Amino acid sequence: MKVVFLGATRGMGRALSRRMAERGDELFLLGRKESDLSTSAKDLEIRSGGDASVGFHLCDLEDPSTFEAALDKAEETLSGLDAVVVTGGLFGKQEDLEQDLPLTRRILNVNFTNTILFCEHSKQRLLRRGGGTLCVFSSVAGDRGRKPVALYGASKAGLSHYLESLDHKHRADGLVTICVKPGFVKTGMTEGVDPPPFAGEPDPVAMRVLSAIDRGAPMVYAPAVWGHVMRIIRFLPRFVMRRVGF
Ligand SMILES: NC(=O)c1ccc[n+]([C@@H]2O[C@H](COP(=O)([O-])OP(=O)(O)OC[C@H]3O[C@@H](n4cnc5c(N)ncnc54)[C@H](OP(=O)(O)O)[C@@H]3O)[C@@H](O)[C@H]2O)c1
Repeated sequence: MKVVFLGATRGMGRALSRRMAERGDELFLLGRKESDLSTSAKDLEIRSGGDASVGFHLCDLEDPSTFEAALDKAEETLSGLDAVVVTGGLFGKQEDLEQDLPLTRRILNVNFTNTILFCEHSKQRLLRRGGGTLCVFSSVAGDRGRKPVALYGASKAGLSHYLESLDHKHRADGLVTICVKPGFVKTGMTEGVDPPPFAGEPDPVAMRVLSAIDRGAPMVYAPAVWGHVMRIIRFLPRFVMRRVGF
């Protein structure tokens, strides 16, 4: 596959892009820091066996004016486009966000408004080519209103809602939209947060997401156990949710 990847420099994006490179997918990286993109591109070139060069271009989820040029460059370099993967996103602890509304605004913009705008640009390009795959990382935090993630969770709830709608709207046109809902995964994003039971690692998540991409599954919980955890949390009555701390 010819894949544009936004967020391959760290965490789950790094693990997933490595898996893709190792199996021979052609990648083009987008992100906000040139030096990190360059390092990641070199790493992926080595992992792909050194045959293909991996291109990159600056693209900042805080600045939608960067999206068009980045996607133009990606399509031109790849000479095509089969899939767009978005793992880029921001997290903030609820107590920090409540004290810092400008930071709250940044996180809501990056995770919701601007990720959706990036998806709209990507969607148009994929549809012009007859379809493809749009795989975007949302979160289990968007499945239910919960005390510790009221703000971050709201941004992901909106994103999940959009991704589901997009899949309903364009599946028949050949566009497969995949909403990834990670549970707690140990990455830079969760550094300093006490891991709950069932905390996962990036690599098994990457394998599970790759399988979902290959199957065209519209939604995937990763690690898998979070699907069972969220099935219970989704059905807890409100009076229970009000009492408990999660
Ligand atoms: N870890 C978890 O427990 C967890 C749980 C549920 C959902 N998620 C979601 O899963 C996705 C990946 O999370 P992760 O844990 O792998 O995070 P991570 O290790 O912090 O990596 C986040 C990635 O997003 C990129 N990014 C951040 N802001 C950006 C911006 N303005 N423009 C472009 N790229 C930007 C980062 O690029 P830089 O290299 O430039 O920083 C990095 O590549 C995120 O959407 C996150 O919300 C994570």
